[in-house]
This record gives sequence, C-alpha cells and structure tokens, in this order.
Amino acid sequence: MKLWGGRFTKETNQLVHNFNASISFDQKFFEQDIDGSIAHVTMLAKQGILTDSEKEAIKLGLLGIKEDIINGTLIIDGTHEDIHSFVEANLTYRIGDPGKKLHTGRSRNDQVALDMKLYTRDEVLQINALLKELLVSIQKIMKENTDTYMPGFTHLQKAQPITLAHHMGAYFEMFKRDRLRLDDIYKRMNYSPIGSGALAGTTYPLDRNYTAALLGFDGPTLNSMDSVADRDYLLEFLSALSIIMMHLSRFCEEIIIWNSNEYRFVEIDDAYSTGSSIMPQKKNPDIAELVRGKTGRVYGSLMSLLTTMKGLPLAYNKDMQEDKELSFDAMDTVKSSIVLFTGMLSTMKFNHKAMAASAKNGFTNATDAADYLVNHGVPFRDAHGIVGQLVLYCIDKGISLDDMTLDEYKAISPVFEADIYEAISLETCVSKRNTIGAPGKEAMAQVIALNEEYLKN
Ligand code: ARG
Repeated sequence: MKLWGGRFTKETNQLVHNFNASISFDQKFFEQDIDGSIAHVTMLAKQGILTDSEKEAIKLGLLGIKEDIINGTLIIDGTHEDIHSFVEANLTYRIGDPGKKLHTGRSRNDQVALDMKLYTRDEVLQINALLKELLVSIQKIMKENTDTYMPGFTHLQKAQPITLAHHMGAYFEMFKRDRLRLDDIYKRMNYSPIGSGALAGTTYPLDRNYTAALLGFDGPTLNSMDSVADRDYLLEFLSALSIIMMHLSRFCEEIIIWNSNEYRFVEIDDAYSTGSSIMPQKKNPDIAELVRGKTGRVYGSLMSLLTTMKGLPLAYNKDMQEDKELSFDAMDTVKSSIVLFTGMLSTMKFNHKAMAASAKNGFTNATDAADYLVNHGVPFRDAHGIVGQLVLYCIDKGISLDDMTLDEYKAISPVFEADIYEAISLETCVSKRNTIGAPGKEAMAQVIALNEEYLKN
C-alpha cells in the first residue's frame, strides 16, 4: 500500500519503486518509528485532536506491531516503500479506521528526521559506553606498568625512554576526548523535529514541547524548515566516529609493529590472531589490520554525506534518504571495531624484557648524558657535541652508552665521573621526568589518580 496513491492514475514502474524504496535499510529503526508515533498520538489526544479511545487503539496496535516484529511473527514486507508506510499500513490492517488517523499533523519528513535522530542518539550513548570500557582496560595496563620501560619514538626512531604506562596514557587522553566530543554532539542534537510537518509546521494545535519531553528531548527544534533539512548532527557524529577510528587505527598500527618478529614487544592472544593457509609458523594480527582498514570506510561515510548535503536547497529532498545506509554502516563498523579492539588489547601480553632491552640499545639516554654534562657546568651545545662523539664511538664498537668504561668516557670528556652510570640508567632517565604529563613515577601517579576519578562517572 502506498501513502500517496490518490493523485496518481498509473502504477509506479517496478524499477522506480525499487530505486525509490528505503525499507530494506530503514527497517533498522522500526522501534524508534513506533516510539515516535506513540508520542505523537499521545500528544494529539492531549490536544483534543484525537479521542482517548482512538489514541489507545493506535497505541495498542503499534505496541503489538513492535512486539510481533521483535518476536519474528511479523516479517517486514519489502513491497512497502519504507518502514513508515509499512507500520501505518499494518496498523490500519490491525485496528481499522483509527489507524488512518496516525499521520494527522505529521509528514514523513519530520517523521524520518525524528526516527533517525532517535536512532542516532542511542548510538551516541552506546559508542560512548564502549569507549569507556576501552578506557577501563587502558587504565588497567597503565596501573600495572609504571615501571615497564620502553623506548619512546619520534619518526619511528628511538628517542627517549618512557614507560608502557606513559605510552598507554597517550591513548587514554585520545579516547577521553572522543567521549567528550560525543557528549557535545548529544547535547547539540537533542532537540525534537517532530511537529514540523513537511516543512512549514501544521495548522493543528500541536504541543511540540510535550512530544519533545515525552521522547526525552531538551525541547523542540525552532525552525520547521531546518528541522526537516538538518543532518548536521549526523555529520558531526560521522566526524567524531572518523576521529575514533583514526585513534584506533594508530593504536593498531603500533600493535602491528610491536607484534612483528623484529620488535616482539607484544604477543597478541591466540584468540585474537589468525593463521596462514600455507605458512604453518604464521600468527597474524588480522584484527588490528582490519580495524586499521575499516577506518577508510568510516571516513568514506563522512565524505559521502558531506557531498550529498552540500547542494541541497531547503527543505527536504530525497537525496537525504542516502544518509541512512552509510551512517548505519559507520555506526556498526565503529561499534564492532571498539569491541574487538578492546578484547585484543586486554588479552595482549607485553614483553617487558624486550621493551627494556630495546630502550637500552637505542641511545635513548643520550639526552640525559648531555644533561649530566650541563649539570657539571658544560654549556648544552658543547654537551650535545660531546655526547654525539660518544654515540659515534659506541656505534663503531657495537656497544651502548652504559657499556663504556669510565676511561673511555674520560678520553672524550674529563668531566665524566663514576656517577654517569647512575645518571643515564633507564630508571633515572624516566624517574627524573616528572613535569605534568611526563613518564616519571610521580607524574604518572597523578595522572592515573585523575583517570581513576574520571572513570567513576
Ligand atoms: N524514506 C524517506 C527518507 O528516508 C522518508 C521521507 C520521505 N519523504 C518524502 N517527501 N518522500 O528520507
């Protein structure tokens, strides 16, 4: 059944119907569609536009449809144009004439705007909760690894020693910001478009404040054209999702490197790895690679919707139906990526020995050797040059700064004394760095305590 057959004298061409229909994907929000309709008719009855018994009949009918779809006795029939048509047709089939009053004072334009907003709002909360679980597992690793030394990198070259707790802390900050972004989006999007009609409101005395409150919105939207034309909240959400994926992807890239035969900083659990069909020795980081790979797909959704929206005149245009598949795909992709990533991270083993050995072998303490000289009165630029000579000497002999004898040190600069070894030990290099946000134990303890507080909410 069509919602708009009256004006037409011919049947729709089948290909046109197929091209135009959205039911194959907008059935995803049948629950939101029904909840929105119930709020709408509740408001209509309060305003005296429907009688209480009509409202009750509609409400019971709609709840029955919802239940039957959920328990599988009502199959969503692909011959309808969209989920809105399907629900309305089914309602009228079930309860007769009152069903035909459901759409009073409403258009599919404000209806679909409402449904998509309700669906998205829920997804924002779900993804926010999944990020919190991820943060909990990052915090656990942080707490256990304030003494786990590893090299910190710039340009993927060993730079200065840090701890695993510190490295994990960087990702804690990223995912915390992602959650803040989601909170912001939720606040900005939480206004109800229903009651805006097709574009110009309606002549019925609707109480839009009431419907908005019934559905948990902070209020109604304030321009009926914008209400049906706005997809900003989706663009913001897709942008936030893209940034989440970018963070996950960088993390995955590091895990792939750390898991490689050359690094062996981590071992991904068997349950989160896959093998090769030909090479029996292989254990591959497929999950990390897939999350990294799926990032492009989420960026694609954002670019696609931005492009769809950029030339649309006010108010509703059918182009906007294209918002759904790509948004659903992005939301589903991000949810499964966070879940899988969290599982992989929390079961991953960290090879403390390999990390510390790597931190020792890459001259990550060279800055501290220079600082030692500065503390003994050598100007920093000269100290930098002297340590450069030490490094060259070590590279030539295939040793590290810690392996040089005091005589060898003194041959390059007489300023060095026996306490140089203590000054450039990994422990000292890290423990001396206690500026806010640095890897030193005290600085890390402060951050870990702040994280703990943050995770309580
Ligand atoms: N399936 C449509 C969509 O997703 C519903 C709104 C239809 N409105 C219209 N004027 N044709 O956008």
